[in-house]
Formats: sequence, C-alpha cells, structure tokens
Amino acid sequence: MVNFLIFGPPGSGKGTQSVRLAEKFNLLHLSTGDMLRAEITAGTALGKKMSLIMSKGELVPDEVVIEMIAHKIDHSKGSAGFLFDGFPRTVAQTISLEKMLNERGMKIDQMLVLDVDHDELVKRLIARAELSGRPDDKDPAVIENRIDVYKEKTEPIINYCNEKGLYQPVKGMGTIDDIFKRLNDYMKKLV
Ligand code: AP5
Repeated sequence: MVNFLIFGPPGSGKGTQSVRLAEKFNLLHLSTGDMLRAEITAGTALGKKMSLIMSKGELVPDEVVIEMIAHKIDHSKGSAGFLFDGFPRTVAQTISLEKMLNERGMKIDQMLVLDVDHDELVKRLIARAELSGRPDDKDPAVIENRIDVYKEKTEPIINYCNEKGLYQPVKGMGTIDDIFKRLNDYMKKLV
C-alpha cells in the first residue's frame, strides 16, 4: 500500500486532482469534506451538528474526522493505497493518522502540497460558488476565514512532515492538466 496526502489551502485543487489521481493509481480517495457534506445531505444528527461550523469556515472537532477516516480505512478493500484529501488538517490529526496507519502496517509515504497564489484561490472559490451551492463558497469573508484557518491550524503540518522527509511542494498554478502531470510525475516514482 502507498499512501499520499494531497495538501493545500481551500481552492488549491485538492479535490479536482484527487479524483483523477485516484483513478490513475487505483487509490482510494478519502475526502473528509465530502464525507461531512454527505452527512449534511443525508440529514444525520452529525451532519446537523457540523453544518454550522462548516458554513463559518471553521474546522470540525478532530475526533469527528479521525473516527470517519478510521472507519473508511477498516472497510476498504482492493485499492493500492489511500489518497487523503483535506485530512489531516491539524498536527493532532496527523499524529492520529500516523498511529492508525502504523497499527495496520502502513505509513504516510508522501505529502504533495499544492502551492497557489492567494488571489487565484479566492477567484476559483468565488467562481465555484455559482455552481456548488456550498455555503462556505458564497461569502468572501468565509473564504478568507478558511484561508486564515488553513494558515494557522493546517500549515504547521508541513513542517511536521518536512522533518520526516515527506514534504513535496508542487506548483498548483496553471491548467488542471499541467498540475495533474506534475503530481503524476512525483507519484509514479512511489506507486
Ligand atoms: P473541504 O471540503 O476539504 O474544503 P477545502 O479544503 O476548503 O477545499 P475545497 O474543496 O474548497 O478546495 P480544493 O483544494 O479541494 O479545490 P477544488 O479541487 O475543489 O472542507 C470543507 C469544510 O469541512 C472545512 O472548512 C471544515 O469545516 C470541514 N472539514 C473538512 N475536513 C476537515 C478536517 N480534516 N478537519 C476539520 N474540519 C474539516 O477546486 C476548487 C475550484 O477551483 C473548483 O471549482 C475547481 O473546478 C477549480 N479549479 C481547480 N483547479 C483549477 C485550476 N488549475 N484552474 C482553474 N480552476 C481550478
């Protein structure tokens, strides 16, 4: 099993690229954002509890996403590894993921970090708001808060992973195809 983190601020293209990369390398794409939105759509008690936090662009509690990921890992079959998208988002989530993987004879193999200019992030998310119906895309103040939360709570994971030799920055500007090629070139060395 080969396990990747696809990492970057909101709007950096994690979800877009993950779908294609998961297919190409037979990886299971695990997006905590998608899992949480599925809970909201299904109207579950958990979804109701998390929707207000998400609509403000804040992070949901670590234990909620850790449990979701553990469940997915234990109920997956047949893939060549995992592609984690939007998880982990705090150092505490990273430590939990490492422990979860280690206990199952696996590890994080590489962290691919999409580097995108601030203005481009905002532009992409505002453009998506028209189509996605995501409440966290509709309000520019919430978009800015999501970017601030990323810098404060999520970016420290880069140092943590860099010290372990896992950090791989990737230029996230340009066309979707160009960025896919860059990610593909790094990943194919490991899969
Ligand atoms: P999540 O769903 O993870 O959202 P996010 O990190 O804000 O990421 P986005 O989906 O907005 O962006 P992306 O990088 O995936 O870019 P995408 O490919 O979609 O999280 C949502 C919320 O859930 C969080 O705020 C939090 O509340 C909660 N949450 C989730 N995980 C959590 C966790 N682990 N812990 C705690 N809370 C958690 O692209 C964006 C747009 O740009 C698309 O329209 C796309 O078509 C377009 N685009 C992509 N690439 C390009 C390109 N190269 N050129 C032009 N347009 C492009």
